[in-house]
Amino acid sequence: MGYRILVVDDQVSFCNHILTILENEGYEVMVAHDSSQAVNRLSAHSFDILLTDMNLPGLNGLELFLIASKIDPHISGVIMTAYGTISSAVNSIKQGVTDYIQKPFEPEALLMAIEKTIRERRMLQEIRSLRKEVSQRYAFGNIIGKNHKMQIIYDMIQKVAPTDARVFITGETGVGKELVAKAIHFNSPRKNRPFVGINCGALSETLLEAELFGYEQGAFTGATRTKIGKFEYAQGGTIFLDEVGDISPRMQVQLLRVLQEKKFERVGGNQSIDLDVKVISATNQDIHAKINQGEYRVELFYRLNVVPIHIPSLRERIEDISLLVQHFIPILNKNFNRNIKAITARAMAQLMQHTWPGNVRELENVLERAFVTTEGDTIDVIHFSRTTNGATAEGSPYSVNIDIPFKVARSMVEKRFEKAYVSESLKRCEGNVTKTAHVTGINTRTLWRKIKEYELDIDRFRSQNPPQPIVRL
Ligand SMILES: Nc1ncnc2c1ncn2[C@@H]1O[C@H](COP(=O)(O)OP(=O)(O)OP(=O)(O)O)[C@@H](O)[C@H]1O
Ligand SMILES: [Mg+2]
Repeated sequence: MGYRILVVDDQVSFCNHILTILENEGYEVMVAHDSSQAVNRLSAHSFDILLTDMNLPGLNGLELFLIASKIDPHISGVIMTAYGTISSAVNSIKQGVTDYIQKPFEPEALLMAIEKTIRERRMLQEIRSLRKEVSQRYAFGNIIGKNHKMQIIYDMIQKVAPTDARVFITGETGVGKELVAKAIHFNSPRKNRPFVGINCGALSETLLEAELFGYEQGAFTGATRTKIGKFEYAQGGTIFLDEVGDISPRMQVQLLRVLQEKKFERVGGNQSIDLDVKVISATNQDIHAKINQGEYRVELFYRLNVVPIHIPSLRERIEDISLLVQHFIPILNKNFNRNIKAITARAMAQLMQHTWPGNVRELENVLERAFVTTEGDTIDVIHFSRTTNGATAEGSPYSVNIDIPFKVARSMVEKRFEKAYVSESLKRCEGNVTKTAHVTGINTRTLWRKIKEYELDIDRFRSQNPPQPIVRL
């Protein structure tokens, strides 16, 4: 584990007790019994966490933390307080201490506070380093992402843009297929010619035909004048055939012919027009399944799919979430004429836990809603709608999935139920674990284990909800 903790408390036996608990978990621990000893240790060694009593002879715990932060600005603080000094503990959180624990406490409570602090440290460290790198490798134009698959996509865009090779983009809804298509076009020699997009899935067969190829006057009832189609508009540029997996069998044949011959005619016309258009297509359907079921012509697929680009879903690249948040907030600030400066660490953690069925578009929408409901300059969890709440994203406690074996499914439902039950009970008891254990009849140790297992943040249930550490943007 390798995390280094300095424990400061004037009671020697208590210090040793904590030392044993922490060392058993693999932490490297040093102790100090007064503030001057602590300052000496802080100057001579580096620590990740300062775990200190609030009431020390000489400096108090908060003052010690403030000095420690001058020695190492990235050190995290956890303060132990006696009963009755909660308000000073809350005040110390305002000054940058990560967490406090009330004495006497059980080992589990201590370990939870330490683990929470470590999680927060990791996230803050990641954000610090991201901030440095965001303008370097972690974006390609306005496409944001540091995940290694995104890096490969950036390479592909650069390789494919100068050529006329057809590109076939796959990925779930909202992952950025259109964004990638545009990036290819705007990095290509065709960039000063049109980029023409058409959603093939949204149009009926005859409408799609007329839209793609255009028509001559009198070609059909209602064709009162000649109209040029998207292929013709796109001449010299790029056409983006979105939802190309949805087109009808007859249109598949027509499109295949156009791609083979590189020529087409307007509907009702007999003059053939040479096609000079780069073709990029996209689908969020499983095109291979369609081919296997005989619903999609494999020859057309081969014509379209010269260079495949698959964009991973957002849940496969959660490391990109904080980067995207930092990308969208300044844009939303501008659009909404706001000045949001930060997001709390727990709000960021919630975004990272959500499953994002709507991918980046959904993230954009969630942030937009948060802008509407935030009054101050910091976004917190209450500004998100319930859909980003981990529990809701997993489905209700009673929703069942019959595609998985019974035992696995039962255990999943049990876990969801347990999480909801424990979380609701803690909420009712305002985060007081002993009281919750008493009321629910769950053994205290078992309850702690469940709090840990389901990563429940008991601070959220406390009535005196201390301010949350924030991530400045
Ligand atoms: N990597 C990214 N970086 C920044 N913004 C992104 C990224 N991916 C997607 N977006 C934004 O998310 C929104 C959805 O992207 P886009 O329309 O390209 O998705 P799509 O895959 O075409 O979705 P659909 O399948 O629903 O058509 C857009 O506002 C886009 O700018
Ligand atoms: Mg799209």
